[in-house]
Amino acid sequence: MSTRMSKPNASTILSEESCTGIDHWLTKYPSNQKQSAVMGALMVVQEANGGWLTTELMDAVADYLEMPPIAVYEVATFYSMYELKPVGKHKLCVCTNVSCMLRGSEDIVAHLEKELGIKFGETTSDKKFTLKEVECLGACGGAPMMQIGREYHENLTPEKMDEILAKLD
Ligand code: FES
Repeated sequence: MSTRMSKPNASTILSEESCTGIDHWLTKYPSNQKQSAVMGALMVVQEANGGWLTTELMDAVADYLEMPPIAVYEVATFYSMYELKPVGKHKLCVCTNVSCMLRGSEDIVAHLEKELGIKFGETTSDKKFTLKEVECLGACGGAPMMQIGREYHENLTPEKMDEILAKLD
């Protein structure tokens, strides 16, 4: 019997596609350590829900992975890639940590705030962009940098930022 069948709560909330995605993560860990798949599972569910997690979805993940809901909440609130409220279509994650700061992330942030009319933690009224401040993303060699979706954009300048924004539909 599949895990899906034995978890009626999770299976009524999670889509078939999300369950398949979580099952993929589960194949990477021993069957008695399902909780190890929690980060991947949360990403799968978040992407399927337009970029953010509801309590109901986190509870479903906990149920699916047979772990306490509080342990799932702890992961979702600790790591910056998870969102607990709706975000725009494009989430602009700007690193302001030391290397990026020394190489001009403040100018990038100021430019984005001016162009989009929002501050960190906010979403444009057309729901197209969310601006988010993040810690070092491990791409210090390309500072200043930002992440949009799965892509890193490095050696940013205000001009380069404009080109990137123009390409986002
Ligand atoms: S400090 Fe920005 S990527 Fe490391």
